[in-house]
Amino acid sequence: MKISFSNPAAVTSGVVVVGVNEGNKLSSSAAGIDKASGGSLMRAIKASTFKGKKGQQLSIMTLAGTKLDRVLLLGLGKPTDMGLTGALNAGGAVYAALAKAGAATVAVCIDGIDGDTKTAPDLASEFGYGARLRSYRFDKYRTKEKAEDKPTLKAFKILCPNSGKARTAFASKNQVADGVFLTRDLVSEPPNILYPDTLAKRTKELAKLGIKVEIMTETQMKKLGMGALLGVGQGSIRESRMVVMQWNGAPKSKSGKAETPIAFVGKGVTFDTGGISLKPAAGMEDMKWDMGGSAVVIGLMKALAGRKAKTNVVGVVGLVENMPGGNAQRPGDIVTAMDGQTIEVLNTDAEGRLVLADALHYTNTRFKPKFMVNLATLTGAIIVSLGNEYAGLFSNNDQLSERLATSGLAVDEKVWRMPMNDAYDKMINCDAADMKNIGGRGAGSITAAQFLQRFVGKTPWAHLDIAGVTWSGKDAPVVPKGGTAFGVRLLDRLVADHYEK
Ligand code: BES
Ligand code: MN
Ligand code: ZN
Repeated sequence: MKISFSNPAAVTSGVVVVGVNEGNKLSSSAAGIDKASGGSLMRAIKASTFKGKKGQQLSIMTLAGTKLDRVLLLGLGKPTDMGLTGALNAGGAVYAALAKAGAATVAVCIDGIDGDTKTAPDLASEFGYGARLRSYRFDKYRTKEKAEDKPTLKAFKILCPNSGKARTAFASKNQVADGVFLTRDLVSEPPNILYPDTLAKRTKELAKLGIKVEIMTETQMKKLGMGALLGVGQGSIRESRMVVMQWNGAPKSKSGKAETPIAFVGKGVTFDTGGISLKPAAGMEDMKWDMGGSAVVIGLMKALAGRKAKTNVVGVVGLVENMPGGNAQRPGDIVTAMDGQTIEVLNTDAEGRLVLADALHYTNTRFKPKFMVNLATLTGAIIVSLGNEYAGLFSNNDQLSERLATSGLAVDEKVWRMPMNDAYDKMINCDAADMKNIGGRGAGSITAAQFLQRFVGKTPWAHLDIAGVTWSGKDAPVVPKGGTAFGVRLLDRLVADHYEK
């Protein structure tokens, strides 16, 4: 999808999108078309049920008196209804409405809230961003799709006052969209193609954006004593990996000392069979996206480097495949994590926490970051708690939690904080080792979080359990069904609002 911006001009042919406020108050662009058509536009509106309500659409073909192929009227609601989020969602909805409508290029007129041209550039860039986000499609393995089933729409030409400002604002959002698309690509790839080594290799493309990428092999991880992570991967013929990505975008301070980084850590189980504690067959294919946390971290790094974020960021992902097999870890095995703590593995399907234990400790001790946020499709229990609407947020720090919640609301990637305390922590105490990898019957997402907390020391930390929000079965305005990349826009926003110089 190509999105371009230029200053207002009359659109006299092809497809044009114009706004109409509630009560059928035409925007100035719509009024211009009505006039050019000798009133045909208003006649078409009156012949329909269109009222200009927010989100309403009316498509008019070959408008009488004009050479226009199609006029898409977009309901804007009351002038106060259409904020930046409204514009973002409108971009997505308009893309979806026109994607397969035949035209390759569409003109969109954005005049500003209640005709206030000052508001137009920001609305226009959000609209373009929404359209781009919605245009994502994972079709690389479809060899027989008919041309008429594929999208025809290739470009949005957005006309708005002060289009230069819109173009600049869009450029950095477009970089975030590139990060979102990378994340969606990675979670969509099948597990025979994407496994620890191939996923690690995909991160090398980030080097051309200025990100330093280090890929650790099993031999290196063994030396560091990462017994928790390696135990999970040992049943697979695919070797485990850890990838460390660094983006140093903060300006050097006067003393020449590098700014302390912030850190993001991702669970990257490229396929989760459950291991010897095997999962049931039905729905197991979903476990290809059990690397969703790592994909968010990788896409976020791409987004931040792409828009040259003025901050120092570390991204660490632990990549393993959880398979049963002759060398697989057994229920009852005791493993030693990198920090020396021992873990009795009572259920090999509670593997994500084992991977993150070593990834978090490694990140914390090597980088001593300002904070760590980890993302993981960690528990089915979080889907029982929050469904597919909110991610679970678990944290040892109120400020970080509040910032995450606020950023989440701003980009419509919502998180809900869950409780943590000593009583829950006790549930993973163990007679045979320092801890066990499962709690009791209840509070499955919380005991998983308590487990992670045992590996973060005193560093401000938050864990996002994204099991319910990583994949979606239905289209949303800026998120087509499939891999959502939930977390990339949220964390990009967190960084932009609080951690850039
Ligand atoms: N990857 C799963 C969690 C999951 C389930 C993600 C459904 C997305 C959709 C995780 O590794 C897992 O298997 N967790 C177990 C933990 C249990 C054994 C304590 C679970 O949720 O059942
Ligand atoms: Mn599992
Ligand atoms: Zn898992």
